[in-house]
Amino acid sequence: MINSIKDCTTLNNGLTMPWLGFGVFKVPEGEEVENSIKSALETGYRHIDTAALYGNERGVGKAIRASGVPREEIFLTTKVWNDNQRKQRIHEAFEESLDRLGMEYVDLYLIHWPVKGFYQKTWKKMEEIYKSGKAKAIGVSNFLVHQLEDILNDCQVIPAVNQVEFHPFLLQPELLKFCQSRNIQLEAWAPLIQGGFAGVRDFEQIAEKYQKSPAQVLLRWDLQHQVVTIPKSTNPKRIAENANIFDFELSAEDMLKIDQLDKGKRVGPDPDHFNF
Ligand SMILES: NC(=O)c1ccc[n+]([C@@H]2O[C@H](COP(=O)([O-])OP(=O)(O)OC[C@H]3O[C@@H](n4cnc5c(N)ncnc54)[C@H](OP(=O)(O)O)[C@@H]3O)[C@@H](O)[C@H]2O)c1
Repeated sequence: MINSIKDCTTLNNGLTMPWLGFGVFKVPEGEEVENSIKSALETGYRHIDTAALYGNERGVGKAIRASGVPREEIFLTTKVWNDNQRKQRIHEAFEESLDRLGMEYVDLYLIHWPVKGFYQKTWKKMEEIYKSGKAKAIGVSNFLVHQLEDILNDCQVIPAVNQVEFHPFLLQPELLKFCQSRNIQLEAWAPLIQGGFAGVRDFEQIAEKYQKSPAQVLLRWDLQHQVVTIPKSTNPKRIAENANIFDFELSAEDMLKIDQLDKGKRVGPDPDHFNF
């Protein structure tokens, strides 16, 4: 039972990663991202998810330093963007991210998308970065089973994490099972369906039963599937609400009810067909 914001999963290399993290996709660089991170750290989050693409690594780093929370108490993820994969500027992109963050290391470095024809080469460089010690773990994002198999068939370091779109409308049971069987931690992006849970009666009914909000039910559902979850909010009240998910447990029956809402429906791009 995951019952504290401090609770962590142990990755396949022994590194611990908090089950609940804080996402900052589309949060503008500067004051807005700094205030969001400040609010998240004050609430007790100790895991932050950014990416070179988000354009807010400077603010993320600045807010972490300003918070007074020791760096080693925070689990920080960033990601290499697709243009740098196509140019195979992986080491350079990594150093640029560290520079913007103002950090000596990140906890997790991810391949943001499986760019066809490049991701296998990229993984070799990710392994070098891991061996340098400047990324405590390396992983992938938006990888389907066949793309993971491509990596697993020829790697020295098994990805520690696969961060994918994951929510009740997109359960992907095969992917979840595959990752769990290979000891690759699945991590949910868009855990709140980017706001698309609002007004869904099934979520409201379950939420009423536990005297929780629908958002809290969705996030708890991730944890009970042993999936790391990284909701985004810039609103201090909702940042706190999303962290208040450790004092209840969904019954097996309610977990199943939510599972059965799966429609295989994405809010984001398909990892087999994207054009960026
Ligand atoms: N690897 C990838 O390709 C990838 C792609 C997308 C996202 N991500 C990561 O995953 C994180 C989360 O995904 P996401 O940002 O796309 O979507 P999300 O977390 O599912 O949803 C965020 C949206 O929900 C709203 N919200 C948050 N808490 C709420 C609550 N308690 N009640 C009602 N509305 C609430 C937010 O609005 P307010 O801000 O106004 O509260 C925002 O509009 C990102 O921030 C990013 O770090 C990764």
